[in-house]
Amino acid sequence: MEILETIDIVKKFGEFRALNGVTLGVEKGKVTVLIGPNGSGKTTLINCLTGVYRPDEGTVRYKGDDITGKAPHKLRKIGIARTFQIPAPFKKLTVFENLMVSAGNQLGEDILKALARRIWLPQEEELTEKSLALLKSFDVEGKRNNLAYELSGGQLKLLELLRLLMEDVELCVLDEPVGSIHPVLANKIFSTVKAMSEKEGITFLIVEHRLDIAMRYADNVCALVEGKILCHGSPKSVLENEELQRTYLSLKNVRK
Ligand SMILES: Nc1ncnc2c1ncn2[C@@H]1O[C@H](COP(=O)(O)OP(=O)(O)O)[C@@H](O)[C@H]1O
Ligand SMILES: [Mg+2]
Repeated sequence: MEILETIDIVKKFGEFRALNGVTLGVEKGKVTVLIGPNGSGKTTLINCLTGVYRPDEGTVRYKGDDITGKAPHKLRKIGIARTFQIPAPFKKLTVFENLMVSAGNQLGEDILKALARRIWLPQEEELTEKSLALLKSFDVEGKRNNLAYELSGGQLKLLELLRLLMEDVELCVLDEPVGSIHPVLANKIFSTVKAMSEKEGITFLIVEHRLDIAMRYADNVCALVEGKILCHGSPKSVLENEELQRTYLSLKNVRK
């Protein structure tokens, strides 16, 4: 089943069509990786899907509902969340604190309820458990008391992903989650994402250039070239596409 669909999306910057009729389905509970050359429109497409941009033409549907142009905070309420290419954590909080403040709808934030400990305490305990479980599943429990500004670039990217997963999210859209990250951590991130899709049914749509890593974990791959979908299917079928070989994959040294 498709949790997200785009139909004929057009996004223009002036006269330039960054997206020129994108029709795409994202399968529920699977890992879909969006690839394509620099400037092909990948970030623009996920900006249109997550309410950062309103497309000039076309429709975005989530679970069958038209969500075209809905604001990011509204999409968050219905289970859609995203990370950005550049992470933006709270630098002076610890990793653990960053996770705790990320979960939406916290009862302790309501001034009246904040006075009554028994109302928010169970929720706080649940969030603590959830954040520790997340840190553990990504093998980074040892970093929980580090301040965010002490983390490496790769660890910051991971923190951004963990903050997203603290919320009740059904569709996670990630922009280059493992770009310039050490291969060991990058594989750990992708394998855990894959496991979360399988165990918890979370859907992931991931823009990624590191094909050596991403292709191992993708269920579906979609190639965007010059603002259009060139091909879409299993990793194997997309990597075998001759036009993609010529225009993109040969540059990245990916063999059939
Ligand atoms: N805000 C913007 N204003 C003008 N042009 C833009 C803007 N954002 C992206 N573009 C152009 O749209 C095209 C697609 O960009 P982008 O979606 O960032 O590509 P990708 O993420 O695939 O590298 C590029 O040619 C880029 O220069
Ligand atoms: Mg981009």
